[in-house]
Amino acid sequence: MVKSYNIAVMGGDGTGPEVVAEGLKVINAAEAKYAFKLNLTKFDFGGERYMKTGETIPDSAIEEFRKFDSIFLGAIGHPDVKPGILEKGILLNIRFKLDQYINLRPVKLFPNVDTPLKDKKPEDIDFVVIRENSGGIYTGMGGATMVGTKDEVATHVMAYTRPVVDRCLKFAYEFAKKRNSKKKMLTLVHKTNVLTYCGDLWMRAYTEMGNKYYPDIKQDYNHVDATTMWFVKQPEYYDVIVTENLFGDIITDLAAMIQGGLGVAAGGNINPEGVSMFEPMGGSAPKYTGKNVINPIAAIMAGAMMLDYIGEEKAAKAIEKAVIDSLLSGKLKSMSAGRMGMGTREVGDLVASYVK
Ligand code: IPM
Ligand code: MN
Repeated sequence: MVKSYNIAVMGGDGTGPEVVAEGLKVINAAEAKYAFKLNLTKFDFGGERYMKTGETIPDSAIEEFRKFDSIFLGAIGHPDVKPGILEKGILLNIRFKLDQYINLRPVKLFPNVDTPLKDKKPEDIDFVVIRENSGGIYTGMGGATMVGTKDEVATHVMAYTRPVVDRCLKFAYEFAKKRNSKKKMLTLVHKTNVLTYCGDLWMRAYTEMGNKYYPDIKQDYNHVDATTMWFVKQPEYYDVIVTENLFGDIITDLAAMIQGGLGVAAGGNINPEGVSMFEPMGGSAPKYTGKNVINPIAAIMAGAMMLDYIGEEKAAKAIEKAVIDSLLSGKLKSMSAGRMGMGTREVGDLVASYVK
């Protein structure tokens, strides 16, 4: 029996649609072999539409998304739209309204991919960051007063409730438990030496849950500033990391660089009980739009993550293997846009050929 899934596809801005097309091409190559089919519905939300209509994304569309099995996103961000409008109006809006409270970022150095870290090999860079994706400073609490005067005051509040912390920790502990690694370690990343309220909440919740329900998972804690240091010096230390929203945002960009750049980094915005959204981390890269030069590997890996989440684990594994085989073939000269030695579509073709 062929299983079918309804997928909302949002190519978005810049090179988003190009890389999403390659992600879908590779999935398409896996469909027959693994007996599933994606029914795609395309949505054109993004900068172009915003400039024409003044609308980012209507609530009705977000409601419609609830009926899908998953959302596949390219990139949001347009050079002619003021920063913040599309990010808040589309990306964060979807994350919040669909309660995608986990941002899952596998950090894996694939073979034949250059890392800026001297002497680090694929076996040294293989961890996962679980970023809380619905709370903290991103909730937007705060305000400004006396704006423009010499005494201007602005606040932005890092707000967390125990349930929001607990649900993220539960996901992280479960993930660490199921992850196929020898370390079986969950590192909490925070800044408990300064953020004594939020840090204390995370630390107590983390310790209590671990002691009570996950005695086999090794508990570990790093300050966020030290974490950036260890990512560079000793990435092999990590297994699974759990952290709050803003810290997670920052360390996952650093993590993307050590795994070979934005051309390969994929992520998932996950609601374990609802509709999730998968995306390459690269952004819209407007200057490369339409030139067939952007690297689609991140989008292809985002597609694999999506398959894994909707229940097509075998196809997801096959796509990851096809990516690795493509890299091992030595045909791709670099992970950077314009220097791959082949075009966006040709990379898609290559990976698809290994899936078949
Ligand atoms: C990310 C991005 C977003 C974030 C922006 C575009 C709002 O940087 O997905 O990491 O800060 O979460
Ligand atoms: Mn970010």
